[in-house]
Amino acid sequence: MLDIHSHILPKMDDGSKSVEMTFEMLRSSIEQGVTTMVSTSHFYADREDPESFLRRRNHAAKKIASQAEELGIKLYYGAEVLYFPGIAQSESVRELAISGTSLILIEMPFVSWSERIFDELMSFQYNSRLQIVLAHIERYRGLQTRDIFEKMLELPFYFQMNAEAFDSFMTRRLAMKQIERGQLHFLGTDCHNITSRPPNMNIAKQAVEKRLSPAAWETITLEMEDRFRHHTL
Ligand SMILES: [Fe+2]
Repeated sequence: MLDIHSHILPKMDDGSKSVEMTFEMLRSSIEQGVTTMVSTSHFYADREDPESFLRRRNHAAKKIASQAEELGIKLYYGAEVLYFPGIAQSESVRELAISGTSLILIEMPFVSWSERIFDELMSFQYNSRLQIVLAHIERYRGLQTRDIFEKMLELPFYFQMNAEAFDSFMTRRLAMKQIERGQLHFLGTDCHNITSRPPNMNIAKQAVEKRLSPAAWETITLEMEDRFRHHTL
């Protein structure tokens, strides 16, 4: 099973605080059936350039790579790139695509969106030839009008939801609707630590198994893995 959104790299952002914590996170993920994990540390263009981010990321990745291999979990490295005006023209930000794939995880700003943001992201996708994955779409809904949110869902992007979305009524309804529409493209845990924001893929698994069936969960997660594989270079 694939977890496409996580903050497991030690001391990269507000996620894992140490190599030990990373290992606890990896072990817990494995226990929940995760076999492939994408590290997506936060990237903020107003604070750092991609080159510096990648240097820090390589440094952190080296600290955990061999032990992750021993645990038998496959790691990919990307970033959770917060949208910024000018992203469409930035060539260096393209380096933040998930390693070895043509996918890039984009976080939308937590303000109400103008359609200009959509236009710019469309240009970014076109210029970069990358495929945008919009991070945790359930978290934006309260801030957007229904119209704008629905418009987002019509864009040719992949939509990622966090496992915890299955925990509360409104976001669970959205998640089930996305499954129905065939538009829950990826699930992630967005895990940051082992306590307050732990690996929690089980939440999604239990909800889908209960509301649909264990076979449905199996199909959904296999489709996500296939989709990911389809974008590996
Ligand atoms: Fe995140």
